[in-house]
Amino acid sequence: MTLLFSTLRVLHIISGILWAGGAIAMYFFIVPTIGATGDSGKQFAGHLMGRTRFTPFMMIVGATTVVAGTILYGIDSNWFQSAWMRTPTGIGFGTGATAGILAFIFGVMVGNTNKALAALGAQIQGKPTPEQMSALQALQKRQALVGRLNAYFIMISIFFMASARMFG
Ligand code: HEM
Repeated sequence: MTLLFSTLRVLHIISGILWAGGAIAMYFFIVPTIGATGDSGKQFAGHLMGRTRFTPFMMIVGATTVVAGTILYGIDSNWFQSAWMRTPTGIGFGTGATAGILAFIFGVMVGNTNKALAALGAQIQGKPTPEQMSALQALQKRQALVGRLNAYFIMISIFFMASARMFG
């Protein structure tokens, strides 16, 4: 294992653990709690998204997982040439990689939707207008969908990362 490969692998696994942990905790525990706690939940979300480094942190660990993972896959498959890709282990890592890349795309959409929700929230003074209300509902619907897809594709990815070598 070359120094580059082992360095990428360590970077990939650590950032993958941080990314998966953050996304799963967010989707299954923090977002439902925000929804269930009214104004204090909204205040908590406003601070978490607006005043902490959580969103850039999730982007950085997600991007590091995907970029390091893609290079690892490139090296393992002799840059998408070798028969390794069709072995049970190669198919396992390939499936996990695909799910991870999809999870990252949905993660970016979660971040953009949160930004749009915060901007709309800042515009609303007192009772929202009918237009603002329907825009708010549309954004909340999208946030729920991309949040679910992000969490589930991450879970599929970590299942295949943890089990790919057992297939071989
Ligand atoms: C949350 C998402 C992810 C987590 C937690 C994760 C975690 C891991 C872990 C723990 C391993 C070591 C498995 C072993 O050696 O048996 C691994 C290996 C690997 N991962 Fe991921 N991974 C994730 C996403 C991805 C993505 C998105 C890609 C590619 C785009 C990828 C590509 C790879 C490859 C190619 C290997 C094999 C490296 C080797 O030959 O040692 N992973 N990953």
